[in-house]
Amino acid sequence: MNQNASLLKTVETTDFITIDPHKAMQASSLDKIRVQGGTQLNGTIPISGAKNAALKHMCAAMLTSDLIQFTNMPVGLKDIQTLAALMKEMGADMTLRSDGTMFIKAENIHSTEAPYDLVRRMRASVLVMGPLLGRFGEATVSLPGGCTIGSRPIDLHLEGFRAMGAEIILEEGYVKAKAPVGGLRGAKIIFPKVSVGATENVMMAATLAKGETILINAAREPEIIDQGNALIKMGAKISGLGTSEIHIEGVPALHGMTHDVLPDRIETGTFMIGVALTGGTVRLQHTRTDFLTSLIAPLEKAGVTIDLDGDDVIVHRNGKPLVGTDIMTEPYPGFATDLQAQFMTMLTMCEGAGMVTETIFENRFMHVPELRRMGADITVQGNSAIVRGVTKLKGAEVMATDLRASVSLILAGLVAEGETTVDRIYHLDRGYENLVGKLEACGAKVERLSSSRVE
Ligand code: EPZ
Repeated sequence: MNQNASLLKTVETTDFITIDPHKAMQASSLDKIRVQGGTQLNGTIPISGAKNAALKHMCAAMLTSDLIQFTNMPVGLKDIQTLAALMKEMGADMTLRSDGTMFIKAENIHSTEAPYDLVRRMRASVLVMGPLLGRFGEATVSLPGGCTIGSRPIDLHLEGFRAMGAEIILEEGYVKAKAPVGGLRGAKIIFPKVSVGATENVMMAATLAKGETILINAAREPEIIDQGNALIKMGAKISGLGTSEIHIEGVPALHGMTHDVLPDRIETGTFMIGVALTGGTVRLQHTRTDFLTSLIAPLEKAGVTIDLDGDDVIVHRNGKPLVGTDIMTEPYPGFATDLQAQFMTMLTMCEGAGMVTETIFENRFMHVPELRRMGADITVQGNSAIVRGVTKLKGAEVMATDLRASVSLILAGLVAEGETTVDRIYHLDRGYENLVGKLEACGAKVERLSSSRVE
């Protein structure tokens, strides 16, 4: 195992996308986005593949030595490139093409370790644990620390592996997991709390375990269904996807396949909220609405119309005032925590008031003080925030604290009077492909200021 493997090494490229996460992080860390408020959004936006499905698909590719091909991969995202770098370090052949195609061949894996340097940068790298443990019987992953939105432990992942017979020890900040002789064994695992990551990690490990694994109180997110369907194409035996009870019958080996990543529902929802705020009409290409019902209901209540045209979604808002409405984040199919910040921005401009209750993460109101600096009227009480609509927001210099908080501030900038500058936008690069370009194409006055150009 290569404990000190450096992720700073440039990932070998063919003719396609060059991956150097360390360099990329340095280059963009001081960039800012400047938004001039007051223009409607009108135009067409292509929706990318879902980040939170894509990352898990990549990990799952390590369950086989065969070639795996993905299309509609959001290859421009920093998180995708960072995970690609890790997998490359472990010995996987990774090819990323700018058209969204990715080839992975994890035939010659020579390291089963995810080092601190990477896990601290992107917690989703703990998702390599299930596939490594399932296929190679061992995995060493740096224990992720907390992050700005909460403490985010991984105890549920580890309990799942333990139930399947793995020995788990914590040493020098690393979790070392080892399968019993003969490999992981199927088990009945009752999650005390719904966890997207734990469901995915344990499901991947279980595909190669001996016997049946039953996951009770499993997460039901569309990304998990997409991941399960990809695993089934690889030869896994899985039933119950999309319900809270998933059954996985272990098989001796998985094989190659091709899979088209589902559209990003959070990106879709973010642009829907953008149109709600600014007014106008935007066609969101290659996406769906069925996985966004918990957003669409309150959006429609607030005065937005949403129509389908094939696999495009047309979002429209006329000049009528937005109406305040309450939301509470919950595991899918409830309102997504990843859309909470954006929805709160919308409520700042509504008629009346709306209440936002966050039940998934304990610290996901970091955007509130920034929105207040722009003139929003928000009172936080525990895990709820009362948002009283104001007639206008005013441009300001604001600081992004996490991915979704960042985009909520850009949305606020789109309707604010004057100029808004959002600092620390490297968070955005992790999860929104070409956000500036997509907004500009719809008439928004938005520009990225590289650190050398920031005044
Ligand atoms: C996924 O995180 C997403 N990330 C998050 O998206 C998303 O906010 C979250 O699910 C909820 O929908 C990826 O898919 C890469 P969880 P995950 O395990 O899997 C607690 C974004 O902006 N918990 O469902 O880490 C945890 O602390 C991001 O794209 C434990 O207590 O979320 C949280 O309170 C941010 N023990 C709750 O469960 C555990 O072992 C739900 O977390 C695991 C989780």
